[in-house]
Amino acid sequence: MTKDSGAKPRGRIEPPTLVAIREAAALLRAGDIVGMPTETVYGLAADALNPAAVNKIFAAKGRPADHPLIVHLPSADHLPRWAAAIPKDALALARAFWPGPLTLILKRAPEVPDEVTGGQDTVGLRVPSHSIALAMLLVFGSGIAAPSANRFGRISPTTAAHVREELGERVAMVVDGGPCAVGIESTILDFSRDVPEILRPGAITPEAIARVIGRRPRVRGEAAGGGRADAHSADAAHAPRVSGALAAHYAPRTPLRLVQSGLLAAEAAALAGEGSRVAVLAHGLPDPRDSRLIWQAMPADPAAYAQELYASLRTADMLDADFILVEALPDGPAWRAIADRLGRAAVGSGASPAG
Ligand code: TXA
Ligand code: MG
Repeated sequence: MTKDSGAKPRGRIEPPTLVAIREAAALLRAGDIVGMPTETVYGLAADALNPAAVNKIFAAKGRPADHPLIVHLPSADHLPRWAAAIPKDALALARAFWPGPLTLILKRAPEVPDEVTGGQDTVGLRVPSHSIALAMLLVFGSGIAAPSANRFGRISPTTAAHVREELGERVAMVVDGGPCAVGIESTILDFSRDVPEILRPGAITPEAIARVIGRRPRVRGEAAGGGRADAHSADAAHAPRVSGALAAHYAPRTPLRLVQSGLLAAEAAALAGEGSRVAVLAHGLPDPRDSRLIWQAMPADPAAYAQELYASLRTADMLDADFILVEALPDGPAWRAIADRLGRAAVGSGASPAG
């Protein structure tokens, strides 16, 4: 809000030039917060070793201060500074998937501030693959703490404009890296306990992890045999805090419902018949189309679907609809992370945001 005479306005979006990247790094060094593109979603970045800067993240997001943050590193070479122990399998996965959308939860090194870890004895670490994120990390030269750059409980931003919509002048600047290629948040894999466990599904699937370490990780919320357990209940009491694991998260303001394919057209038409404005995210467009409904055709390919998901939910939310109906997803490993986000979006949707 404060503007020195001649100072550049806060919340501005800058194209990803070397000048802008240097400026972003200087702002981070000065203890400010900036919007950073990554391949998954945009992050709200701060110097991970500066507790006062990290506290600005919580204030800007409206996020509870005991929720830990992911630290982004320029490369796996930085791991020893942040993690007290690096299990062999964790290192193998870092080698296989970094830079990329995998976050490893490891025992923290003593230097990592409590503000970053939420007071826990672990820290989340990842090396993002977006070239602008990597450039910012290399110029900055140390760990950057960055949650998704949305207000707490809301839809994660996948463009620079979304970050400005969410956070406005709360950020010093947003570096524009274009639309995020993956579109949903990284897979979080906890290595701090007896067996590796996926706390949040993402583009790196349990099957892909198993191919590297020779065993399938446990998956939070999945029964031991592989099926779905009663959602998010089992070991919640002992679980580390993961806001992405709250039942209500990633949520639009408009009530959102998942509907089986065969019922979609009829349910949408019935709501429209009652005078409701209905936005529909479907795998295809119906023929003939009901002009009272706002249809968005979603891609058939899961990677493309994930890439468009949050922008589509954001658009649906902006249409002032009374309901968002989303066609149920196909089965299969590649759809699981998307189903996870849509499930939480459905629970969290409507008037009151999560938390
Ligand atoms: O793809 C991503 O991971 C994006 C981009 C910006 O890198 N970041 C992201 O951050 O999604 P955030 O804060 O929105 O979600 C990170 C999740 C949170 O649910 C947090 O609780 C969990 O990671 N987390 C972070 N550190 C943890 C730790 N030490 N133990 C357990 N969970 C942790
Ligand atoms: Mg988030």
